[in-house]
Amino acid sequence: MIMLDKSLLVGQGLHRDVYQHPENPGLCLKVRVDRDRVNRGDQEEQREQAYYRLLAKRGVPWEGIPKFHGNVETNLGSAAVFDLIRDADGEVSKTLEYYFGQITITEAHQAELIFELNQLKSYLLRHNIITMSLKPKNIVFQRLEDDQWRCVIIDNIGNSDWLPLMTYVPLFGRIKIRRKWQDFERRLKRMYPMNDAVLRMLKFI
Ligand SMILES: Nc1ncnc2c1ncn2[C@@H]1O[C@H](COP(=O)(O)OP(=O)(O)OP(=O)(O)O)[C@@H](O)[C@H]1O
Ligand SMILES: [Mg+2]
Repeated sequence: MIMLDKSLLVGQGLHRDVYQHPENPGLCLKVRVDRDRVNRGDQEEQREQAYYRLLAKRGVPWEGIPKFHGNVETNLGSAAVFDLIRDADGEVSKTLEYYFGQITITEAHQAELIFELNQLKSYLLRHNIITMSLKPKNIVFQRLEDDQWRCVIIDNIGNSDWLPLMTYVPLFGRIKIRRKWQDFERRLKRMYPMNDAVLRMLKFI
């Protein structure tokens, strides 16, 4: 059994605590937590993992989403294991919430944000990867070597619709992906009305 403690914590969402793997700095462990009974429950986790398995079977490259490595037991309960996205300097990559949170930070990275968001969108379309709501807190902006960057979606992958047409018919998938992307743009407009750099960026993604 893997032993986790607070010193390994690298992120927290509404539903899960995210820990660095104690023996492998390239992996993270996601443990479900009951915060005021806001919990998506088992079903949501099953759905996410089934979708990851489907993508693995299709052989999609893991450049825009972290690879899933199955489940392990920990002292805090069962955990899902994923690649931990890190910058070239070893720091855990920060989410778009960080890069959009201050206009000076957005401006400093405007060109690469525009380029990489477009790359992410074409990656989703090319490989027919369906997402649920796209949110800035669920996308990390990874700094690679030599000032290369990349957007990686770390949460909310897959399809919750009961009719899985989008998952299996590429044309429907593309329609769904485009719609989710439009929702994402609208969400950014709502979330950052004071950040002109984000608003300007939206014209180019
Ligand atoms: N693979 C990863 N690489 C780097 N950071 C990550 C990774 N997975 C999660 N994180 C960090 O941990 C935070 C919480 O993780 P995650 O979004 O999976 O939890 P959640 O509870 O499902 O989120 P939500 O509140 O959106 O439901 C993220 O916002 C991000 O900062
Ligand atoms: Mg999240």
